[in-house]
Amino acid sequence: MSDQNLHWSRVAASYEKEFIDPHRPDVRSPLRRVLRRLARRGLGAVADLGCGIGPLLPFLVEHFTKVWAVDFAAGMLERARAAAPPSAKLEFVQCPLTDLQPLHGRLDVAVAVNSLVLPDPRDLDRALTEVRACLRPHGRLLGILPAMDGVHYLTMLLVDRALALGQPLDAARKSAAHHNDHACYDFGFGEFRFQGLEQHFWQPSEIRHRLSRAGFRVRSLKKVHLSWKQFSCWRDLEHHPPPWDWFVLAEPS
Ligand SMILES: C[S@@+](CC[C@H](N)C(=O)[O-])C[C@H]1O[C@@H](n2cnc3c(N)ncnc32)[C@H](O)[C@@H]1O
Repeated sequence: MSDQNLHWSRVAASYEKEFIDPHRPDVRSPLRRVLRRLARRGLGAVADLGCGIGPLLPFLVEHFTKVWAVDFAAGMLERARAAAPPSAKLEFVQCPLTDLQPLHGRLDVAVAVNSLVLPDPRDLDRALTEVRACLRPHGRLLGILPAMDGVHYLTMLLVDRALALGQPLDAARKSAAHHNDHACYDFGFGEFRFQGLEQHFWQPSEIRHRLSRAGFRVRSLKKVHLSWKQFSCWRDLEHHPPPWDWFVLAEPS
Protein backbone atom coordinates (compact mmCIF):
# COMPACT_ATOMS: atom_id res chain seq x y z
CA MET A 1 0.00 0.00 0.00
CA SER A 2 1.23 3.49 -0.80
CA ASP A 3 1.25 6.52 1.47
CA GLN A 4 -2.30 7.49 0.44
CA ASN A 5 -3.49 7.07 4.04
CA LEU A 6 -1.14 9.90 5.09
CA HIS A 7 -2.47 12.20 2.37
CA TRP A 8 -6.06 11.42 3.37
CA SER A 9 -5.15 12.07 7.01
CA ARG A 10 -3.69 15.44 6.10
CA VAL A 11 -6.78 16.63 4.19
CA ALA A 12 -9.13 15.60 7.03
CA ALA A 13 -8.85 18.99 8.75
CA SER A 14 -10.15 20.91 5.71
CA TYR A 15 -12.32 18.11 4.29
CA GLU A 16 -15.59 20.06 3.95
CA LYS A 17 -13.88 22.87 2.00
CA GLU A 18 -12.19 20.61 -0.53
CA PHE A 19 -14.66 17.86 -1.46
CA ILE A 20 -17.96 17.55 -3.31
CA ASP A 21 -20.46 16.34 -0.70
CA PRO A 22 -22.98 13.66 -1.74
CA HIS A 23 -24.70 13.90 1.69
CA ARG A 24 -25.99 17.47 1.23
CA PRO A 25 -29.76 17.84 1.59
CA ASP A 26 -30.01 19.19 -1.99
CA VAL A 27 -28.41 16.01 -3.43
CA ARG A 28 -30.86 13.45 -4.86
CA SER A 29 -29.49 10.17 -3.51
CA PRO A 30 -31.22 6.83 -2.91
CA LEU A 31 -28.63 5.88 -0.25
CA ARG A 32 -30.54 6.60 2.95
CA ARG A 33 -33.86 5.32 1.58
CA VAL A 34 -32.27 1.97 0.65
CA LEU A 35 -30.42 1.77 3.98
CA ARG A 36 -33.69 2.37 5.86
CA ARG A 37 -35.37 -0.39 3.85
CA LEU A 38 -32.59 -2.88 4.58
CA ALA A 39 -32.60 -2.01 8.30
CA ARG A 40 -36.39 -2.52 8.40
CA ARG A 41 -35.88 -5.99 6.87
CA GLY A 42 -33.68 -6.85 9.86
CA LEU A 43 -30.23 -6.47 8.32
CA GLY A 44 -28.57 -5.16 11.47
CA ALA A 45 -24.78 -5.18 11.09
CA VAL A 46 -23.37 -2.42 8.91
CA ALA A 47 -19.90 -1.04 8.14
CA ASP A 48 -19.16 2.40 6.77
CA LEU A 49 -16.06 1.57 4.73
CA GLY A 50 -13.89 4.65 4.26
CA CYS A 51 -16.09 6.57 6.70
CA GLY A 52 -14.03 9.77 6.46
CA ILE A 53 -15.08 12.39 8.99
CA GLY A 54 -18.21 10.30 9.61
CA PRO A 55 -21.18 12.13 8.03
CA LEU A 56 -23.20 8.92 7.76
CA LEU A 57 -22.52 7.56 11.25
CA PRO A 58 -25.41 9.23 13.16
CA PHE A 59 -27.86 7.82 10.59
CA LEU A 60 -26.33 4.33 10.77
CA VAL A 61 -26.33 4.35 14.58
CA GLU A 62 -30.00 5.35 14.54
CA HIS A 63 -31.09 2.57 12.16
CA PHE A 64 -28.74 -0.39 12.67
CA THR A 65 -27.86 -2.59 15.65
CA LYS A 66 -24.08 -2.70 15.10
CA VAL A 67 -21.96 -0.14 13.21
CA TRP A 68 -18.30 -0.36 12.26
CA ALA A 69 -16.65 2.86 11.09
CA VAL A 70 -13.64 1.88 9.01
CA ASP A 71 -10.91 4.04 7.51
CA PHE A 72 -7.15 3.78 6.97
CA ALA A 73 -6.52 7.47 7.72
CA ALA A 74 -5.92 8.33 11.39
CA GLY A 75 -6.89 11.99 10.82
CA MET A 76 -10.26 10.99 9.37
CA LEU A 77 -11.02 8.58 12.22
CA GLU A 78 -10.06 11.20 14.79
CA ARG A 79 -12.63 13.63 13.37
CA ALA A 80 -15.24 10.88 12.95
CA ARG A 81 -14.80 9.83 16.60
CA ALA A 82 -15.11 13.41 17.84
CA ALA A 83 -18.32 14.03 15.85
CA ALA A 84 -20.07 10.66 16.33
CA PRO A 85 -22.98 10.22 18.74
CA PRO A 86 -21.88 8.30 21.86
CA SER A 87 -23.10 4.75 21.30
CA ALA A 88 -22.14 1.27 22.46
CA LYS A 89 -23.17 0.05 18.97
CA LEU A 90 -20.38 1.98 17.26
CA GLU A 91 -16.84 0.66 16.81
CA PHE A 92 -13.96 2.37 14.98
CA VAL A 93 -11.48 0.28 13.02
CA GLN A 94 -8.32 1.63 11.39
CA CYS A 95 -7.51 -0.60 8.44
CA PRO A 96 -7.16 -0.47 4.65
CA LEU A 97 -10.00 -1.66 2.43
CA THR A 98 -7.54 -4.15 0.95
CA ASP A 99 -7.45 -6.06 4.26
CA LEU A 100 -10.78 -6.24 6.06
CA GLN A 101 -9.99 -9.48 7.89
CA PRO A 102 -11.54 -8.34 11.23
CA LEU A 103 -14.91 -7.99 9.49
CA HIS A 104 -14.93 -11.15 7.38
CA GLY A 105 -18.35 -12.84 7.45
CA ARG A 106 -19.78 -10.29 9.90
CA LEU A 107 -21.66 -7.75 7.76
CA ASP A 108 -25.23 -7.55 6.56
CA VAL A 109 -24.57 -4.24 4.85
CA ALA A 110 -21.36 -2.65 3.57
CA VAL A 111 -21.51 1.04 2.67
CA ALA A 112 -18.73 2.75 0.74
CA VAL A 113 -19.34 6.40 -0.13
CA ASN A 114 -16.64 7.69 -2.47
CA SER A 115 -14.06 5.49 -0.79
CA LEU A 116 -13.70 2.83 -3.52
CA VAL A 117 -11.21 5.17 -5.15
CA LEU A 118 -8.00 3.14 -4.86
CA PRO A 119 -5.81 4.30 -7.76
CA ASP A 120 -4.13 0.93 -8.48
CA PRO A 121 -6.70 -1.33 -10.20
CA ARG A 122 -5.20 -4.38 -8.47
CA ASP A 123 -5.87 -2.77 -5.08
CA LEU A 124 -9.35 -1.77 -6.19
CA ASP A 125 -10.15 -5.37 -7.17
CA ARG A 126 -8.65 -6.60 -3.91
CA ALA A 127 -10.77 -4.15 -1.91
CA LEU A 128 -13.94 -5.35 -3.67
CA THR A 129 -13.00 -8.98 -2.98
CA GLU A 130 -12.43 -8.08 0.68
CA VAL A 131 -15.81 -6.35 0.91
CA ARG A 132 -17.38 -9.47 -0.60
CA ALA A 133 -15.64 -11.60 2.07
CA CYS A 134 -17.14 -9.41 4.81
CA LEU A 135 -20.73 -9.90 3.65
CA ARG A 136 -22.98 -12.66 4.89
CA PRO A 137 -24.78 -14.55 2.08
CA HIS A 138 -27.85 -12.27 2.19
CA GLY A 139 -25.69 -9.14 2.54
CA ARG A 140 -25.68 -6.00 0.41
CA LEU A 141 -23.07 -3.56 -0.80
CA LEU A 142 -24.20 0.04 -1.23
CA GLY A 143 -21.64 2.18 -2.99
CA ILE A 144 -21.40 5.73 -4.20
CA LEU A 145 -18.69 5.93 -6.83
CA PRO A 146 -17.18 9.12 -8.30
CA ALA A 147 -18.24 9.26 -11.96
CA MET A 148 -15.78 10.09 -14.71
CA ASP A 149 -18.69 10.38 -17.16
CA GLY A 150 -20.13 13.08 -14.88
CA VAL A 151 -16.88 15.02 -15.29
CA HIS A 152 -17.12 14.75 -19.10
CA TYR A 153 -20.74 15.92 -18.95
CA LEU A 154 -19.74 19.06 -17.01
CA THR A 155 -16.96 19.72 -19.54
CA MET A 156 -19.50 19.56 -22.36
CA LEU A 157 -21.80 22.06 -20.61
CA LEU A 158 -18.88 24.41 -19.87
CA VAL A 159 -17.67 24.37 -23.50
CA ASP A 160 -21.21 25.07 -24.75
CA ARG A 161 -21.54 27.89 -22.21
CA ALA A 162 -18.29 29.56 -23.32
CA LEU A 163 -19.21 29.22 -27.01
CA ALA A 164 -22.61 30.78 -26.29
CA LEU A 165 -20.75 33.70 -24.68
CA GLY A 166 -19.02 34.22 -28.04
CA GLN A 167 -15.64 32.68 -27.26
CA PRO A 168 -13.72 30.95 -30.08
CA LEU A 169 -13.45 27.15 -29.69
CA ASP A 170 -9.89 27.03 -28.34
CA ALA A 171 -10.69 29.67 -25.70
CA ALA A 172 -13.95 27.88 -24.85
CA ARG A 173 -12.06 24.64 -24.31
CA LYS A 174 -9.43 26.39 -22.16
CA SER A 175 -12.12 27.98 -20.06
CA ALA A 176 -13.94 24.64 -19.58
CA ALA A 177 -10.68 22.89 -18.67
CA HIS A 178 -9.93 25.59 -16.12
CA HIS A 179 -13.37 25.59 -14.49
CA ASN A 180 -13.48 21.79 -14.41
CA ASP A 181 -9.95 21.25 -13.01
CA HIS A 182 -8.71 19.27 -16.01
CA ALA A 183 -5.13 19.67 -14.81
CA CYS A 184 -5.98 17.29 -11.93
CA TYR A 185 -7.46 14.53 -14.13
CA ASP A 186 -5.95 11.66 -16.04
CA PHE A 187 -8.91 10.96 -18.31
CA GLY A 188 -7.25 7.97 -19.99
CA PHE A 189 -6.74 5.98 -16.81
CA GLY A 190 -9.59 7.42 -14.76
CA GLU A 191 -7.71 9.27 -12.06
CA PHE A 192 -8.10 12.53 -10.14
CA ARG A 193 -4.90 13.81 -8.49
CA PHE A 194 -5.13 16.55 -5.92
CA GLN A 195 -2.86 17.55 -3.03
CA GLY A 196 -1.04 14.20 -3.10
CA LEU A 197 -4.31 12.22 -3.22
CA GLU A 198 -4.84 9.87 -6.13
CA GLN A 199 -8.45 8.85 -6.61
CA HIS A 200 -9.96 6.52 -9.14
CA PHE A 201 -13.00 7.92 -10.97
CA TRP A 202 -15.32 5.28 -12.45
CA GLN A 203 -16.77 4.83 -15.92
CA PRO A 204 -20.27 3.25 -15.86
CA SER A 205 -19.08 0.30 -17.98
CA GLU A 206 -16.50 -0.50 -15.33
CA ILE A 207 -18.95 -0.88 -12.45
CA ARG A 208 -20.62 -4.17 -13.44
CA HIS A 209 -17.33 -5.53 -14.77
CA ARG A 210 -15.34 -5.04 -11.56
CA LEU A 211 -18.18 -5.96 -9.21
CA SER A 212 -18.94 -9.13 -11.13
CA ARG A 213 -15.26 -10.18 -11.04
CA ALA A 214 -15.28 -9.70 -7.27
CA GLY A 215 -18.34 -11.95 -6.83
CA PHE A 216 -21.19 -9.44 -6.85
CA ARG A 217 -24.37 -9.10 -8.87
CA VAL A 218 -25.50 -5.51 -9.47
CA ARG A 219 -29.16 -5.04 -8.49
CA SER A 220 -29.43 -1.32 -9.07
CA LEU A 221 -27.29 1.37 -10.66
CA LYS A 222 -28.50 4.97 -10.43
CA LYS A 223 -27.17 8.47 -10.81
CA VAL A 224 -26.78 10.53 -7.64
CA HIS A 225 -27.29 14.05 -8.91
CA LEU A 226 -24.97 16.33 -6.94
CA SER A 227 -25.57 19.90 -5.83
CA TRP A 228 -24.98 22.43 -8.61
CA LYS A 229 -23.89 24.86 -5.88
CA GLN A 230 -20.63 22.93 -5.47
CA PHE A 231 -19.56 23.46 -9.10
CA SER A 232 -18.04 26.41 -10.99
CA CYS A 233 -20.38 28.55 -13.12
CA TRP A 234 -23.42 26.80 -11.63
CA ARG A 235 -25.67 29.83 -11.99
CA ASP A 236 -25.28 29.61 -15.79
CA LEU A 237 -25.83 25.84 -15.85
CA GLU A 238 -28.45 25.06 -13.24
CA HIS A 239 -31.25 24.72 -15.80
CA HIS A 240 -29.51 21.45 -16.80
CA PRO A 241 -29.43 18.33 -14.59
CA PRO A 242 -26.36 18.54 -12.32
CA PRO A 243 -23.27 16.27 -12.57
CA TRP A 244 -23.47 12.97 -10.74
CA ASP A 245 -21.81 10.15 -8.84
CA TRP A 246 -22.97 6.56 -9.35
CA PHE A 247 -25.05 4.77 -6.70
CA VAL A 248 -24.75 0.99 -6.86
CA LEU A 249 -26.59 -1.67 -4.90
CA ALA A 250 -25.03 -5.13 -5.22
CA GLU A 251 -25.42 -8.57 -3.66
CA PRO A 252 -23.18 -11.63 -3.50
CA SER A 253 -23.59 -13.67 -6.69
C1 LIG B 1 -13.80 11.03 -0.37
S1 LIG B 1 -13.64 10.45 1.27
C2 LIG B 1 -15.31 9.96 1.64
C3 LIG B 1 -15.55 9.86 3.12
C4 LIG B 1 -16.95 9.47 3.55
N1 LIG B 1 -17.29 8.12 3.09
C5 LIG B 1 -17.99 10.45 3.11
O1 LIG B 1 -18.98 10.04 2.52
O2 LIG B 1 -17.82 11.67 3.39
C6 LIG B 1 -12.80 8.90 1.07
C7 LIG B 1 -12.47 8.23 2.39
O3 LIG B 1 -12.04 6.90 2.10
C8 LIG B 1 -10.86 6.63 2.82
N2 LIG B 1 -10.07 5.68 2.01
C9 LIG B 1 -9.61 5.87 0.76
N3 LIG B 1 -8.92 4.79 0.35
C10 LIG B 1 -8.95 3.91 1.39
C11 LIG B 1 -8.39 2.62 1.60
N4 LIG B 1 -7.66 2.03 0.66
N5 LIG B 1 -8.61 2.00 2.77
C12 LIG B 1 -9.37 2.61 3.76
N6 LIG B 1 -9.90 3.83 3.63
C13 LIG B 1 -9.71 4.47 2.45
C14 LIG B 1 -10.16 7.97 2.98
O4 LIG B 1 -9.28 8.00 4.07
C15 LIG B 1 -11.35 8.92 3.15
O5 LIG B 1 -11.70 9.04 4.49
